[in-house]
Amino acid sequence: MWGGRCPDGDPCPQVSGGADILSVDISETYLAQAEERVKACGYTNVTFRHANLATTDLPPESADHIFVCFVLEHIPEPEAALNNLYRALRPGGSVTVIEGDHGSVIFHPESPAARHVVDCLIELQHRSGGDGTIGRRLYPPCSRLPGLSKSL
Ligand SMILES: C[S@@+](CC[C@H](N)C(=O)[O-])C[C@H]1O[C@@H](n2cnc3c(N)ncnc32)[C@H](O)[C@@H]1O
Repeated sequence: MWGGRCPDGDPCPQVSGGADILSVDISETYLAQAEERVKACGYTNVTFRHANLATTDLPPESADHIFVCFVLEHIPEPEAALNNLYRALRPGGSVTVIEGDHGSVIFHPESPAARHVVDCLIELQHRSGGDGTIGRRLYPPCSRLPGLSKSL
């Protein structure tokens, strides 16, 4: 299972070894773009679902791998989303979560103006229900998933 739209060069279908992939996104527009790109590349192993990762009903223990990239930072309840996805993971399956932390940016030389822009970005994301600094608080929710043996 694959969370979020397919950006240019997204490796999921290329490295999946022909596995069946379910791609989920809350945006119909992004989902349509992803479908267009995937079809243009000739892949036929990807199914697309317009849904909220936090609430969508997924068959329990059906996924060998769950891949979430730059999505949790936009979800007001990322733990609910992780738990929902985790229910769909088969025993012994694996999860990849890639999220950023805009607040950790370094400028050299330091620039108060640039720092202010980043602070505004974080604040705007916060006002729309997301968390632009989710990277620094992601490990505890991931480590609480039952049976998870390794987090990076
Ligand atoms: C920054 S993009 C990342 C997309 C892609 N994974 C990537 O790495 O380029 C965030 C994506 O998450 C989707 N998204 C945001 N909230 C979501 C939710 N609750 N459920 C599913 N998708 C969501 C957005 O529509 C958008 O396509």
